[in-house]
Amino acid sequence: MGSLFDFMLPELKSPMTGATTDALMGFIHIVSFIILAGVTVAMIYFAIKYRRRSDDDKTPLITHNNKLEITWSVIPLLLVFIVFGWGYKGWLNLKSVPDNAYEIQVSAYKWGWTFSYENGAQVGNEVHVPAGQPVKLVMRSEDVIHSFFVPDYRIKQDVLPNRYTYVWFQAEEAGESQVFCTEYCGTSHSDMLAKVIVHTPEDFENWLSEQSSGGGGTPAERGENLITLQGCVTCHSVDGSQKIGPSFQGLYGREETMSDGSTITADENYIRESILDPGAKIVEGYQNQMVSYEGRLSDDDISDIIEYIKTLEE
Ligand code: CUA
Repeated sequence: MGSLFDFMLPELKSPMTGATTDALMGFIHIVSFIILAGVTVAMIYFAIKYRRRSDDDKTPLITHNNKLEITWSVIPLLLVFIVFGWGYKGWLNLKSVPDNAYEIQVSAYKWGWTFSYENGAQVGNEVHVPAGQPVKLVMRSEDVIHSFFVPDYRIKQDVLPNRYTYVWFQAEEAGESQVFCTEYCGTSHSDMLAKVIVHTPEDFENWLSEQSSGGGGTPAERGENLITLQGCVTCHSVDGSQKIGPSFQGLYGREETMSDGSTITADENYIRESILDPGAKIVEGYQNQMVSYEGRLSDDDISDIIEYIKTLEE
């Protein structure tokens, strides 16, 4: 179905994230065209058939027609349900990152992108990824709202200050794709471009090992230093043992029960909030005794600490 509309969309290079979008776009275009043609033909036909022929040629007064009204209400309603259900299925897929996804940290700023890898490598305005493997981008902004858009992959996600968002894709073949910032963010918004550079898995490993970590170690190593320097380890163990606060071991991705009985999955946003506003959400059985680290830890520091916590599996 999608091939009919090739002239409108660039070639799809991440079918795992884009196939539903393309199929749904095709469906909407075909239905819209059928409705447009039907309405136009009917309009011309009635205009000719019921044209005024003489002065006493009067139209009878018609107040309503139940059959017709039900028909033209139910058919569009069904179409709306189909489009909603189809779109919802596609959205769920875009929000469900495969477990084996390769993770890259993204920082957006006025006006560019920084991509950080687990070995400490950092690259500006170019994100290198392996082909044939899902890639997850965990994104944040240093200033205003930006948006990460790759037309080839049919993915688009706002990038926000003070909060993490994510997207994933799987490029099937080596090559290049264009990234646009698609949220107006100031003077050079239109120059806020980047490239996705897809390597074969072997080439990607080679590329990654050639990148220097820029000193200071990997993000996880920096995070480990920080939690010692900042005294986090006084109250939070890293080996699961009981201290004043919850242990960092196995924290990332854990379902926590809060003091108000609700449950929450410990993700990037939860950990960030717990560092900056420790009283906001309290794990059941604990009392908050922690003060905010606002101003003591930068956004980069917080991301490094989260990367370290991710390594502390149970
Ligand atoms: Cu960043 Cu527009």
